[in-house]
Amino acid sequence: MTRALGIVAAAAMILLFAALMIVVMPSIQLQASVKPPEGLTPYSESALVGREVYISLGCVYCHSQQTRDPSLGPDAIRGWGRAAVPADFIYDSPHLLGTMRTGPDLLNIGARQPSVDWHMTHLYNPRAVMPESIMPAYPFLFEVKEEAGPRDNVVNLPQEFAPDGGVVVARPAARDLVQYLLELDRTYPVDEIPVEEAN
Ligand code: HEC
Repeated sequence: MTRALGIVAAAAMILLFAALMIVVMPSIQLQASVKPPEGLTPYSESALVGREVYISLGCVYCHSQQTRDPSLGPDAIRGWGRAAVPADFIYDSPHLLGTMRTGPDLLNIGARQPSVDWHMTHLYNPRAVMPESIMPAYPFLFEVKEEAGPRDNVVNLPQEFAPDGGVVVARPAARDLVQYLLELDRTYPVDEIPVEEAN
């Protein structure tokens, strides 16, 4: 009986130690060292709603939001931006780092592609701007109206992608999603974390 108690006590100690080292310590270290960067503003209300749309439509399954150091991949050469640092994600909850890169990394898409029109057309049908694109179309984020109202965001479409009659206008979800994409911009300078070169 005493032996069993000893084993249980030892196991509990090991578990406690592991939790301290793996969960508690890193969290304390990060809180102390990661401050909001000067160049980064919190997401606007519309962008936060757009972020929920991004999550619900599964964009994260094809797009990462984590640019890598040049020693780990050609992200900078591709024009995706400098290597990400922890502070870049201070307003991201939950984070959307992603693991798949079926499409380009989107951490800096707002800086790379600041055109609302482009994003609207691309979301309505990626093939309308990128003929070879394999990205799914999201036509349900839009509606066809006979005539656009004064505050409507009309989507510019090449003839072959446009409906037979009326105009395609963005629903609120599309507007919020595009606002979120435009606010993805971590191009401000930071103290980069030195990465050791592999020999
Ligand atoms: C099945 C995989 C897939 C999914 C899901 C997907 N994408 Fe894409 N995306 C791609 C591919 C491939 C490209 C590159 C071709 C192109 O531009 O259409 C791309 C390109 C893009 C670009 C342009 C990037 C650049 O550097 O020019 C944006 C912006 C984008 N996607 C946003 C989204 C959003 C927002 C969603 C969710 C609503 C989404 N994608 C869902 C595959 C995907």
